Amino acid sequence: MFGHVLLPIAALLIASVCGLSIVAFQAITGVPPLSSKVAEGADVIALLKQAGLAQQAVVYELGSGWGSLVVALARAFPEADIRGIEISPLPYWVSRMRTRNMPNVSLRRGNFYDSDLSDAQAVTCYLMIKPMPKLASFLDRTLMPGTPVVSLSFWFRDRDVAASRTSSGLLGAAALYYWPARKTEAESRSCR
Ligand SMILES: C[S@@+](CC[C@H](N)C(=O)[O-])C[C@H]1O[C@@H](n2cnc3c(N)ncnc32)[C@H](O)[C@@H]1O
Repeated sequence: MFGHVLLPIAALLIASVCGLSIVAFQAITGVPPLSSKVAEGADVIALLKQAGLAQQAVVYELGSGWGSLVVALARAFPEADIRGIEISPLPYWVSRMRTRNMPNVSLRRGNFYDSDLSDAQAVTCYLMIKPMPKLASFLDRTLMPGTPVVSLSFWFRDRDVAASRTSSGLLGAAALYYWPARKTEAESRSCR
């Protein structure tokens, strides 16, 4: 009897909860759940190929959002083990749906700072300026030396860029590092 009233109210309630959840997790991480574009994903893939990524490599996508980069990576490297970690529930569940038929993708909901990445053979990320210094320290602690790291749009300060690609413009530029990619004293001084 009240169906015609209850249905729109339920839909509004669900939409509000979803919206609030996105806003709340963005406030916690300082990173909005934006998706990388196809051209940006292609740049990340080209840099990983340039780094000589092994066919069956373990690749961590830190902050995998709605799954755009995970999907692109899984298609480009069908034998690799693509592991996405996403803290925000709504993007996480959407990415789970998107990748449900992709056997080389595994997704985990949680904070990537709580993960052990010592088995990573490559890492990708697309975050914001603010978390980059904390992420750099975390990668210093957890990655094996020489692990390729590709960061989209936001680059690491004071780290040596091995290669970069800018197919979708400077804002979406991707940079490849061989972690920890520390600059020499002379290089650091010339950047100041
Ligand atoms: C700009 S989006 C990028 C999404 C995806 N990588 C892509 O390229 O399409 C960044 C994502 O990182 C997530 N994120 C930020 N900090 C995180 C953390 N500490 N742990 C897990 N996810 C995080 C955000 O929730 C957001 O969805």
